[in-house]
Amino acid sequence: MAQSAKTLFFCKQCGGESAKWFGRCPHCGEWNSLVEAPKAPKRSAGRRPRRGRPAEAPTRLGETETGTVQRIDIGIAEFDRALGGGLVPGSVVLLGGDPGVGKSTLALQAAGRLAASGRRVLYVTGEESQSQVRLRSDRLEDPSDDVLLLAEGNVSRITECAEEEPPALLVVDSIQTAFTPEADGAPGSLIQVRESGQRLHALAKERNVAVLLIGHVTKEGAIAGPRVLEHMVDTVLYLEGERIGNYRVLRAVKNRFGSTDEIGLFEMRETGLTEVHDPSRMLLDTDGRRAAGSAVVPVIEGTRPLLLEVQALVTPAAYGVAQRVASGIDPKRLAVLLAVLRKHAGTDVSGHDVFVNVVSGIRIQEPAADLGLLAAVVSSFRDRPLPARVALFGEVGLGGEIRPVGQPERRIAEASRVGFERFVVPEASRRDLPKRLQEVAIGVDRLSEALVQAGLYPNASSATDAVLDDFPGELQDEPPDDLPDDLRDDWGLA
Ligand code: TYD
Ligand code: MG
Repeated sequence: MAQSAKTLFFCKQCGGESAKWFGRCPHCGEWNSLVEAPKAPKRSAGRRPRRGRPAEAPTRLGETETGTVQRIDIGIAEFDRALGGGLVPGSVVLLGGDPGVGKSTLALQAAGRLAASGRRVLYVTGEESQSQVRLRSDRLEDPSDDVLLLAEGNVSRITECAEEEPPALLVVDSIQTAFTPEADGAPGSLIQVRESGQRLHALAKERNVAVLLIGHVTKEGAIAGPRVLEHMVDTVLYLEGERIGNYRVLRAVKNRFGSTDEIGLFEMRETGLTEVHDPSRMLLDTDGRRAAGSAVVPVIEGTRPLLLEVQALVTPAAYGVAQRVASGIDPKRLAVLLAVLRKHAGTDVSGHDVFVNVVSGIRIQEPAADLGLLAAVVSSFRDRPLPARVALFGEVGLGGEIRPVGQPERRIAEASRVGFERFVVPEASRRDLPKRLQEVAIGVDRLSEALVQAGLYPNASSATDAVLDDFPGELQDEPPDDLPDDLRDDWGLA
């Protein structure tokens, strides 16, 4: 392939650069993903004066000014939280998410709040007409009347307009509809997105304008087309959620100005995205007994504890290969945990379909949910509900051991707050708890032991690592020999 010195090859998948063409991207291994594109002009090199001002000398790190970042509060606490404490002027934020998840809604709400506080906000739409945006705005609880609206895809026009009187925030909805006439390719193509992204980035830095770029996500979870954008911007936020569910999680996956642990929680209502302030109460039916196949796990998302319900449905496989479907949980993790369950707790679901779902559409990323997940699976398999007001947490190791997890105290405190009374926890975590909480926590070292304590297996003598041969899956109505007092009720013993 002929190649001039002015071009490079870019991977459509990962954005990696190569000097020549390969059939397979040397960066990410994707086949047939390299496209030829002109080299980005070296802006800074061209501009820097060669004579006169000496090149910048290095400074001692200790003497370097910290330059306190003056953040702008958007006024939507969950959004500010995900950003790491507000919007940084001059920063570029990429807001990604599936089509229809609510990106435009959230951006318009943020724009509306900022404009209402007297700041100049420019909302550029290339996706929708001005009247469509107006219609959406009218549905919102606090309409965004003061936002300046521009229906434009041409980046030269957008930057011109922003430079005339720089706004505090520029929203570009979306980066896939933005185009730079001087560059090749159709809007949304790698070259176009890269070039447009670079120009808007330059605008942000030169004019101290915060830029919010909206981008669609492909099925594989990458921001559509180019990940080049992810490298370019300061912060990448993803808005996630099940289309059927009403909950949305705003998660930072990259943040130059804050931690990437924080999440923002929203509920999609008729009047736009509403902040969820007490998620544990919102996401759970906290009174009432659990159905078979349901378990409650206290997870820590960012800095806050959150109670989530994990549901499992285990049914005999109808045809050949048993299915494993997981939503909200990594399917590979599920497969590993089911193998541990079989090997170390005597429950073999290999002939059963297993469906697992985290209610609310939130994705659990913590291994602390392992124990609750397996309890839900066994509960469905045995058609026996977990006792009411019992929550479980703990990481399950490959040897069937229950490993300690961080912040047990906060997990228990959060669950107690919404009415949970008993906790099956890793023994090593229990020992770290204050006396008062040790009394409500049942410490376990082994998976089999945990399942007995959760009332899913009848006796402790079968709580060994041996396969529970005397326990072949069908429901046993014998209570455990050493059933804790609190659980006696649930087995119908006074
Ligand atoms: P939208 O913000 O257009 O999604 P995106 O920009 O990510 O593609 O939101 C799309 C969905 O949100 C749409 O199906 C309608 C729904 N919606 C509400 O439920 N309530 C509202 O107030 C608004 C504005 C939208
Ligand atoms: Mg949109």
